Amino acid sequence: MAAHRLLYATSLAVVFNLCPGNPVDAHEFDPENGEEINEVCAGCHGEFGEGGKEGEYPRLAGMPAEFIARQLHLFRDRQRPNLAMVEYVDHRQMPDGDIQDIAAYLAGIELKTKLPPVDESAPDFDAYARLLASKKIMQIPRAEGSQAAGSKLYRKECASCHGKMGEGDKKKAVPLLAGQYTNYLWRQVEKYRNKIRIHDPDAPEDALLSEFTDEEIRDIFAYLSVLDD
Ligand code: HEC
Ligand code: HEC
Repeated sequence: MAAHRLLYATSLAVVFNLCPGNPVDAHEFDPENGEEINEVCAGCHGEFGEGGKEGEYPRLAGMPAEFIARQLHLFRDRQRPNLAMVEYVDHRQMPDGDIQDIAAYLAGIELKTKLPPVDESAPDFDAYARLLASKKIMQIPRAEGSQAAGSKLYRKECASCHGKMGEGDKKKAVPLLAGQYTNYLWRQVEKYRNKIRIHDPDAPEDALLSEFTDEEIRDIFAYLSVLDD
């Protein structure tokens, strides 16, 4: 690797907070390639993987790399239906190395939920940097339902895998739920209930999400929607 390339990779690694011992090993992460592929994804999922259209396109930023890679393999192998994405992920367009690069790239993007306060009249105030920062802010609107009931259910039934604060689990490749669009989460619940997606790859017969009423799921999502405040 050329020296300038190495420097670039290192500085990106710092910017995107990548840990060197990432589980996506064997293949050496090429952040430039990840960034280039992301230009295609950005058309739907946003420049920073923040998602869009109120959850028609899910947030991808900060998801575990292994989770993203697994979904891309599932789309590519037609095991998870997704008409919108099929043409971007077929074997010709997306060899395995590209899947790993884009997955690691998106996993490393950190979206803040609030802008830190600044003094706009300070001499070193940088309006352009502020504008860029504001584009990376991601805040899920509060969803309807009982947060109190949802909190109880979430902590008992979901937190062991999806994390105490709904942040997901990088090591076990479990997706974040807090900070994801509520509409998107609902669509996935329907898919799991109808066995279009498999909820727990280690226990494909698991029907956990069918065991809850719509009202219970609604309460869980109401609780999750305030966890990123
Ligand atoms: C034409 C629009 C479009 C483009 C371009 C696109 N996607 Fe998607 N993507 C979608 C839609 C729509 C969904 C949600 C599908 C669903 O509801 O199950 C999705 C879902 C996903 C998911 C699943 C997320 C989750 O939490 O389950 C991943 C991962 C993903 N896309 C990655 C990518 C990557 C990487 C690229 C670029 C190579 C990309 N997408 C390009 C439309 C698009
Ligand atoms: C045994 C571990 C486990 C438990 C408990 C669990 N989940 Fe999951 N969940 C997962 C895994 C793993 C995935 C990713 C599956 C995949 O690859 O499609 C997932 C995915 C999801 C998704 C889709 C997210 C996305 O971005 O595509 C939703 C929604 C979800 N879970 C909701 C819940 C809710 C609500 C609960 C509690 C009632 C719960 N889960 C409990 C392991 C778990």
